[in-house]
Amino acid sequence: MTRPTPHEQPLTRQTNSGAHVEPCTLVIFGGSGDLTRRKLLPALYNLRLDGLLPANYAVVGIGRRPWSDDEFRKIAHGGIEQFSRQSLQQDTWEDFARRLHYFSGASEDLTTYQGLRRRIEEIETQFNLSGHRIFYLAIPPSSFGPSCEGLRHAGLIYPADLPDRVSRVIVEKPIGHDLESAKAINTTIGEVFDESQIYRIDHYLGKETVQNIMVLRFANSIFEPIWNHKYIDHVQITVSEEEGLGTRASYYEQAGALRDMMQNHILQLLCLIAMEPPYSLDTDVVRNGRMEVLRSLRPIRGTDVEHVTVRAQYTPGTIKGQEVPGYRHEAGVRPDSTTETYVALRCYMENWRWSGVPFYLRTGKAMPRRASEIAVQFKDIPEILFNAASLTRQAPNVLTFRIQPHEGMALRIMAKNPGSRATTHPVDMNFNYGDAFSAPSPEAYERLLLDVMAGDASLFMRRDAVEASWAWITDILDGWKVLGSRGLSEYPAGTWGPIEADKLIATDGQQWRLV
Ligand SMILES: NC(=O)c1ccc[n+]([C@@H]2O[C@H](COP(=O)([O-])OP(=O)(O)OC[C@H]3O[C@@H](n4cnc5c(N)ncnc54)[C@H](OP(=O)(O)O)[C@@H]3O)[C@@H](O)[C@H]2O)c1
Repeated sequence: MTRPTPHEQPLTRQTNSGAHVEPCTLVIFGGSGDLTRRKLLPALYNLRLDGLLPANYAVVGIGRRPWSDDEFRKIAHGGIEQFSRQSLQQDTWEDFARRLHYFSGASEDLTTYQGLRRRIEEIETQFNLSGHRIFYLAIPPSSFGPSCEGLRHAGLIYPADLPDRVSRVIVEKPIGHDLESAKAINTTIGEVFDESQIYRIDHYLGKETVQNIMVLRFANSIFEPIWNHKYIDHVQITVSEEEGLGTRASYYEQAGALRDMMQNHILQLLCLIAMEPPYSLDTDVVRNGRMEVLRSLRPIRGTDVEHVTVRAQYTPGTIKGQEVPGYRHEAGVRPDSTTETYVALRCYMENWRWSGVPFYLRTGKAMPRRASEIAVQFKDIPEILFNAASLTRQAPNVLTFRIQPHEGMALRIMAKNPGSRATTHPVDMNFNYGDAFSAPSPEAYERLLLDVMAGDASLFMRRDAVEASWAWITDILDGWKVLGSRGLSEYPAGTWGPIEADKLIATDGQQWRLV
């Protein structure tokens, strides 16, 4: 595929709404945590390196660990060296580092917030900041409430309608473990922040290929006319992880694959593939479009749960030559655990565009490869010409979005085999981001942090969307609760899932793609 003529790039990062990135103080609750070290600080550093941060900004990390600013900077340095997309450059680092600060305190302790307020005000004076504040909750959900309440108590939050000062809050997943708990978290945060100030992050939405789904659909003329039940046979969405449980037992035992991957990432991918064309890129227009998809999902309830969902746990196996213990033998897992490490299901949307088109969704741990992809399979051609004989049935056209690894797209078409005979062979037209564009794709957190600084919430989850996806998932969880351990299948680690998942799709005459 030839490289496109580069379109002129704006000097500052353009968000969907075209909003400006304002000077601000970013206050990270969970500043001593893993997410901050591995993702947030490297993302900020890359934004700085690319000249995308505002001229004035400051970062304050908060944690219970009694670190000094210097210790925080040292951790940041190590995190950037290890995880940054671009290598560390001394002069940029020095300017970046002097804007990093650390404040020690527990979320539940109200005295934390008076001290925090004084510290923030000192920093804002030092860096000539106007008082725009972004609070990032990279802490366990049980601390969301006390943190928001503490911030309000200390007078650190401005009302949403103030013209010249903004307060925003970024909320990390998990937002709840079912519909009721999600509502409770949303209500807790909503008592302190207005919905327009809340940015619920799903980092999948910040990935380049995920954003490209909308570009592909709505910036090209050839796809939209055939993007419906008349031409599309079915859609498969796969998110596979190579790792097993690792050290996440305490979280994962309570979560499982349906909550961990399906409720958020996979349903969001589904929304982008299935949404109606929005009439503008304004935040709520795009979010309404995604929301409509969730509303039109047919609920999976009662006996349907047993028939259209498959859940399974991995048993001992081998991944890339390494032996992997079965899930129930992993450290921290109950020997009789029924937590699913794999889920596959078939769902439908009850709307005109997608009537009768099955969407097959699957995700699992301890699989042969780490991969995320969406495959849109088009209908078979008529059984004439090249497709006349049952022995030489033509492979269907498939448009594939590869989200990770090797971000890109492929269109499978049939081509003639070279030679004098009229035989055919499926070939892929491939587009790789890495080959087509010289600049490496930014990390999802880079894009998302910048969008919050600009006040653009289109890539974030609105309260109604979070609750609609939990409502749909909670029906399935309720069905599984009734079934108990009945219906929990097994698959050896290092394989693509249980036989029951193959049967689920085979009943429709299809098979899972090899990703
Ligand atoms: N890591 C990821 O890739 C990832 C991805 C998506 C979502 N998340 C979510 O993001 C949150 C943070 O994840 P993480 O991986 O960074 O976890 P982590 O390494 O365990 O860090 C947790 C952070 O929260 C702080 N914290 C915990 N309880 C606190 C309290 N009562 N008061 C003040 N600070 C408190 C900890 O501070 P001290 O240790 O100093 O006490 C630490 O900075 C979690 O809710 C997680 O589910 C993480």
